[in-house]
Amino acid sequence: MTTRAPLILAIESSCDETAVALYSKADGILANEVYSQIELHRQHGGVVPELAARDHLRRLPLVLQQALERADKTLQDIELIAYTAGPGLLGALMTGAGYARALAYALGIPAIAIHHMEGHLLSPLLAEAQPEVPFVALLVSGGHTQLMAVDAPGKYRLLGQTLDDAVGEAFDKTAKLMGLPYPGGPELAALAEQGDANRFPLPRPMTNRPGMDFSFSGLKTQVRLLIEEHLEKQGNDTQTRADIAAAFQQAVIETLAIKCRRAWQETGYRDLVVAGGVSANRLLRQTLQQEAEKQRRRVYFPPLALCGDNALMIAFAAAQRYDGHDSPLDIAVQARWDLATLPPHPVAP
Ligand code: KG4
Ligand code: ZN
Repeated sequence: MTTRAPLILAIESSCDETAVALYSKADGILANEVYSQIELHRQHGGVVPELAARDHLRRLPLVLQQALERADKTLQDIELIAYTAGPGLLGALMTGAGYARALAYALGIPAIAIHHMEGHLLSPLLAEAQPEVPFVALLVSGGHTQLMAVDAPGKYRLLGQTLDDAVGEAFDKTAKLMGLPYPGGPELAALAEQGDANRFPLPRPMTNRPGMDFSFSGLKTQVRLLIEEHLEKQGNDTQTRADIAAAFQQAVIETLAIKCRRAWQETGYRDLVVAGGVSANRLLRQTLQQEAEKQRRRVYFPPLALCGDNALMIAFAAAQRYDGHDSPLDIAVQARWDLATLPPHPVAP
């Protein structure tokens, strides 16, 4: 029988992290295990989807075992299984979904499909300070850059999104241009810390016209020109590398801040949550914090350990979304999935 605060086992396998978590509203976080495939993909300079899927299949039973041990639970204690059903790499999603569904079937318990970006979006609610609904959400990951209005729990409205590269993708591609290893985002951010962001002026794309859409692919081209002009022709000077990285990072983050300001103004909402892998970025956190203070608004981030992909955010989303009903037995996963099509969260009885 499923209780009101079921013990949830969550599985996340949408990209290059194999993750399993155990969580219940009553007992909180019992386990949050993440196995990263970074080493596997690094030799190829990026994620190889087929290798990711095969590795998830290999790792899932081990990570699950690890999570059960950490929580001091057995499979029989689990009351609900949640899994990421998209968006993400289809093969990678299929392994997690198939594993979750089969396990739920064998245990005779329900399973529900969770939207990866809803997991990210709700992850700031796992921190101590809590935003109040309605709020604005800035989602910045490897595959997504979106500004969302969260009008009610689980009810999402798109305000703006990237027309080309996602922020994480722009960081990764730019890092690659600069010869940094995969995944380049954190490496580029670390290099930028040593640089002078004002030496090379770069544009703040799409800020001179109204709206909240983004475009980051042009910045990558600008960086390529800077590399050709200042590194290839004049020697690979360390300070110049750091200055280029800093100019890029500053341009991206200021652009995000300008659009967040518009989202605050447009919605009138007080709170902004920032989530997704790039929400770990130090300068982004600092800049949006300052912007919030200036605008007399508030900004919330996930705990650093929950910025990247993890299964705890999937379990947490499931805890908000579960209404006692199982989703159908088919193992449907989606590479693309519009967050705004989700139904609102059920109202607690
Ligand atoms: O949310 P996430 O873990 O996976 C996706 O759902 O895509 O986001 C990963 C992305 C990568 O592009 C990675 O380079 C970027 O987040 N990232 C960062 C930082 N940490 C992770 N980008 C900039 N600065 C960081 N500190
Ligand atoms: Zn993610």
